[in-house]
Amino acid sequence: MSILFTPINLGNIQIKNRFIQSATYEVMAAETGEVSDKLIKRYQRLAKGEVGLIIPGYMYVHPLGRSYKHQTGIHNDAMIPGLRRLVETVHKEGAKIVFQLAHAGRQTTKSMIGETPLGPSSSGRNPITFIKPKEMRADQIEEVIQAFAIATNRAVEAGVDGIQLHAAHGYLINQFISPFFNHRKDDWGGSDANRFRFLKEVLSEVKKVLPQGMPVFVKLNTHDYTPREGITPSLAVTYARWLAELGIDGLEISCGSPVYSFMNMCRGDVPVKELVNSLPFWKRPLGKHMLRSMVGKYNFEGGYNIEAAKMIKPVLGKTPLFLVGGLRQVAEMEDVLEKKYADCISMSRPFIREPFIVKKIKEGNAKAVACVSCNRCLAAVTHNIPVQCYNKGLPES
Ligand SMILES: Cc1cc2nc3c(=O)[nH]c(=O)nc-3n(C[C@H](O)[C@H](O)[C@H](O)COP(=O)(O)O)c2cc1C
Ligand code: SF4
Repeated sequence: MSILFTPINLGNIQIKNRFIQSATYEVMAAETGEVSDKLIKRYQRLAKGEVGLIIPGYMYVHPLGRSYKHQTGIHNDAMIPGLRRLVETVHKEGAKIVFQLAHAGRQTTKSMIGETPLGPSSSGRNPITFIKPKEMRADQIEEVIQAFAIATNRAVEAGVDGIQLHAAHGYLINQFISPFFNHRKDDWGGSDANRFRFLKEVLSEVKKVLPQGMPVFVKLNTHDYTPREGITPSLAVTYARWLAELGIDGLEISCGSPVYSFMNMCRGDVPVKELVNSLPFWKRPLGKHMLRSMVGKYNFEGGYNIEAAKMIKPVLGKTPLFLVGGLRQVAEMEDVLEKKYADCISMSRPFIREPFIVKKIKEGNAKAVACVSCNRCLAAVTHNIPVQCYNKGLPES
């Protein structure tokens, strides 16, 4: 039997195979943040398709940490019944489910949250929205740390199998741990240890409310690809070591961010037309010019985070590593596990196109996934269109 179908223990849960659906924003929640039937169906299908562990799209833990209108919320107790229905549906099909908890920090808009977005520091405008964030006060930092813990409690009440802290892709935790975003001179900045403190405190508070043995994972950037130095592979190695020492149950590694380097995050084609059309009219000429200049610079590469995995794995000790980014060939996935570059195969876009791909691989009917990394599903999100494979074009284009 292929190594891909050997079970793995993560904390006190066992995953039946090595496949993880990496968190994928669905654009399917109600405007209140509540789980919808459409969202539940999406995960029922994936669970039927035998994905071992499902991580739904990032969930906002605080109203000010919301990024999108149709993002799932875990910011108040009214969300719990819907989240419970989601968990029960996935469990019924034999898969495990972990919630990814997030706060957008500066990576959102005033129109979304009703006030100027918060960040560790106020310096630097968002190059897309031109927003200059407000520097968080100490009491606001504490409030957000507690929001992660309270949201964890809600996840536990919903019956989830574990949680993942979203410390990647330029969201608030990433902002605190990155020297590009964090210019604070107090206890929350100024050194790697101080910048890491926010993640450390969130982890510590979250662990206090998690039942004994229930796993906590972290998704971390190994490279921010920001215009000036943010997280680099060597800093990511340090953070990975610290996270393993703090007793996390699994580390997923990624890179890039929607604002500064979405093409590093999702290597492949630049869907110029679809992305330009999502911009307001007055931003389109400049947007078109910028997007066109990116064409050909981020061509798809198989397993584009493997080199980072090779650096991170040795410092993790027994902590499992989940690799995401461009894993498309079954032989390559097996190689990653056999050579112990990583312990689990995490994918996003392939599951959008083929929810049943794991079953197909298991039955010997697929040597590769069908996703061609055209990134139109990613463009769909910017139009508030529910995620699915739009390889042949977006509905209105
Ligand atoms: C439509 C879409 C939505 C995404 N939403 C999230 C998300 O909610 N949280 C997250 O950590 N990553 C998110 N990602 C990034 C993926 O989890 C993954 O890291 C990236 O797509 C690379 O993996 P892949 O090559 O298997 O697609 C998203 C990607 C896509 C295409
Ligand atoms: S639109 Fe379809 S083929 Fe294109 S990246 Fe998304 S899932 Fe893959």
